[in-house]
Amino acid sequence: MERVRIGLAGCGSVSRSYLPHLAASEYADVVAVCDVDMSRAEQSAQQHGVPAAFDDMARMLDGAEFDLFLNTTAMPAHCELNRLALTAGRHVYCEKPIATSYEDGRALVELAQTQGVKLWGAPNVVLSPQFAYLRDLIHGGALGRVYAAHASYGHAGPTWGPWFYGKEGGSLFDLGVYNVTTLTGLLGPAQAVVALSGTAVPEREVDGAMLRAEADDNTMLLIDHGDAVFSHVQTGFVYRAQRGDRSVEFIGTEGAANLLGYDWGPTGVEVWDAASGAWNTHCEDARDYCWQSGAAYVAECLIKGIEPMMTGAHALHVLEVMTAAKASAADGARMSVESTFDLTAPPV
Ligand SMILES: NC(=O)c1ccc[n+]([C@@H]2O[C@H](COP(=O)([O-])OP(=O)(O)OC[C@H]3O[C@@H](n4cnc5c(N)ncnc54)[C@H](O)[C@@H]3O)[C@@H](O)[C@H]2O)c1
Repeated sequence: MERVRIGLAGCGSVSRSYLPHLAASEYADVVAVCDVDMSRAEQSAQQHGVPAAFDDMARMLDGAEFDLFLNTTAMPAHCELNRLALTAGRHVYCEKPIATSYEDGRALVELAQTQGVKLWGAPNVVLSPQFAYLRDLIHGGALGRVYAAHASYGHAGPTWGPWFYGKEGGSLFDLGVYNVTTLTGLLGPAQAVVALSGTAVPEREVDGAMLRAEADDNTMLLIDHGDAVFSHVQTGFVYRAQRGDRSVEFIGTEGAANLLGYDWGPTGVEVWDAASGAWNTHCEDARDYCWQSGAAYVAECLIKGIEPMMTGAHALHVLEVMTAAKASAADGARMSVESTFDLTAPPV
């Protein structure tokens, strides 16, 4: 295989970031696009030079030859389209989350194994140089033992896509998912979670019409990583403003470090220097990382025969953490988390 052929479903907002990025990749060609709204599919194909457009996933699978399915549809459609692609023997890269229930996510991971293909899920935060810098810092012992971490990500909420506010949407699945991936990726898998979560704004204006929100738009999640290592994620669609210049903090027994910028768009790592008592900034260059680079990255890995740093097991674990958080918030219980994954690189 010289280039990975990609079929993309979901020609909405996020596809407009993925398609130009993929057009610049030397490892991938987008050969087909699909959207239930055929006018969107045709417009995307025309704008991005894609040879085929479809209005249905099954028709795209029948009508186009491709190796990797890129799922940028609305969250409630993720599981079914991923299942169709895996059943047809295609690799899958799915925007977050891979499914909206843990049971569905687990079935997808098992189906990929049975079919001998791979399933990867956004977010791709583990690929940034800043993530690698923090990983080496934390696992190399430069901060002593890191027992505490805080992460926060919110905005005022999308003004498009009613599904963001439907039962399978919400700020934790749309935004908190980045922080959950970063914290578990750096501190290790969650063993249990406790959460508070609610719908603060019951009515939203979306695509010019008012709707009744069914999803939680304000969540506080506590994660127990084991051995008294705790982190928390605060996320919401109720943040008019937030300091985005420092969004994740790691606090150790001998030092501390902050991820500068958001974890999906990092701008550096700030590390406290014990000798001088000052904060110094390192690793300011994101190099070729960007939040929409996941599909091009897995295409490159497929061509080169490299095992990607992102794994389906991590995406499934993040999904279980988020669904366990929902369950915890609903009945006030501490919820155990059963899934696990290998950290993306061995400790330094
Ligand atoms: N918009 C962003 O800034 C952003 C950033 C990162 C990740 N994401 C993620 O990307 C995904 C898509 O988000 P979006 O903002 O582009 O949503 P969107 O609502 O703008 O677009 C979703 C598209 O999927 C299509 N679709 C829905 N069901 C389908 C089906 N069964 N088959 C084919 N097409 C179908 C819709 O018609 C729509 O065009 C979500 O998982 C979201 O969390 C979005």
